[in-house]
Amino acid sequence: MPLYHKLGNIPPKRHTIFKKPNGDYYYEQLFGTVGFDGMSTNMYHEHRPTQVKEIKGSYSVKPEIARANNIQSYRLRGFQVPKTPDFLESRKPMLTNSDCTITLSAPTNKTQDYFYKNTDSDELIFIHRGTGKLRTFLGNLDFKYGDYLIIPRGIIYKIDFDTDDNRLFIVESRRPIYTPKRYRNWFGQLLEHSPFCERDIRRPEELETYDEKGEFLVKVRKQDEIFDMVYATHPFDVIGYDGYNFPYAFSIHDFEPITGRIHQPPPVHQTFETDAFVVCSFVPRLYDYHPDSIPAPYNHSNIDSDEVLYYVDGDFMSRNDIEAGHISLHPAGIPHGPHPGAMERSIGKVDTQELAVMVDTFKPLMVTTEAMKIADEQYYQSWLE
Ligand SMILES: [Fe+2]
Repeated sequence: MPLYHKLGNIPPKRHTIFKKPNGDYYYEQLFGTVGFDGMSTNMYHEHRPTQVKEIKGSYSVKPEIARANNIQSYRLRGFQVPKTPDFLESRKPMLTNSDCTITLSAPTNKTQDYFYKNTDSDELIFIHRGTGKLRTFLGNLDFKYGDYLIIPRGIIYKIDFDTDDNRLFIVESRRPIYTPKRYRNWFGQLLEHSPFCERDIRRPEELETYDEKGEFLVKVRKQDEIFDMVYATHPFDVIGYDGYNFPYAFSIHDFEPITGRIHQPPPVHQTFETDAFVVCSFVPRLYDYHPDSIPAPYNHSNIDSDEVLYYVDGDFMSRNDIEAGHISLHPAGIPHGPHPGAMERSIGKVDTQELAVMVDTFKPLMVTTEAMKIADEQYYQSWLE
């Protein structure tokens, strides 16, 4: 996040002696991405963060592919993904390529008896249902319906849910996730035409620090495998940190829509970007106000990007028969557009209550076997008159 943040106690200078009240040392760790070129945080541990006791084994979580080269539009009925007790086991990959994996998850356990660390990907977790607390070694974030949680790669975390009714839409990104560059000035500050600003970005506030030795299971994801690693000290033993690399939350309800006299193109909804895909938020807004405007989108040929829409709430104007939790996949190479009747229906409407998250990937997405379990195979024919 291009925003400085400081939590807990840190010494006045980097890379200098920092001692505990009893005279022992704290242990510094530089925690960065993109080598030494990306955002980084300087953190201070109670114990050396390198004390691996045992590597117990590993298992694959590589998505199983059903359609590698896909040209068919699909509708996936996301709420048919079964509720599963464990947070990691509940994650069902739907669509994937070498840049990202789009996953649905409905965990029922309120917490985990392990810590999790994804070294492959930044994670974007959109909270469709559920409330709780994201707990990380860089502090905690309370979350609720409509929140995007951005967890940069390598952050050790666990999630505490308040109830067993949780629905998550997750994008795992091999590329760092940023706010759109065109909304930032050369210092990184969000500009006046940005649909959100720094005040909308919630940073970790509560730092849990445990000075504990023992056996602590950290499930570490690397190259689509999860390694069960036992550490000798509590992973949440950070006394303080400062820098730019930390988890944060942004609510889709804080996204201020950009509207116009005629139909505005999808980039006005953009919320996050990587160099391999964009994430957009479609939020309740006034429709276009030219007297002859057509609020529904025009047919468009996204010839070189796959479009994934995750429907959250409200009526989605351009689609027939779409419900909350559904995903539509409109693959690159063929045009797509409003369903029959949707364009006509939209004319004269004043506003929309739709709420949706869109992911447009520049490389084609492969459809997984998990997705085929909840897929509507006839969806691609739903534009026939
Ligand atoms: Fe589209």
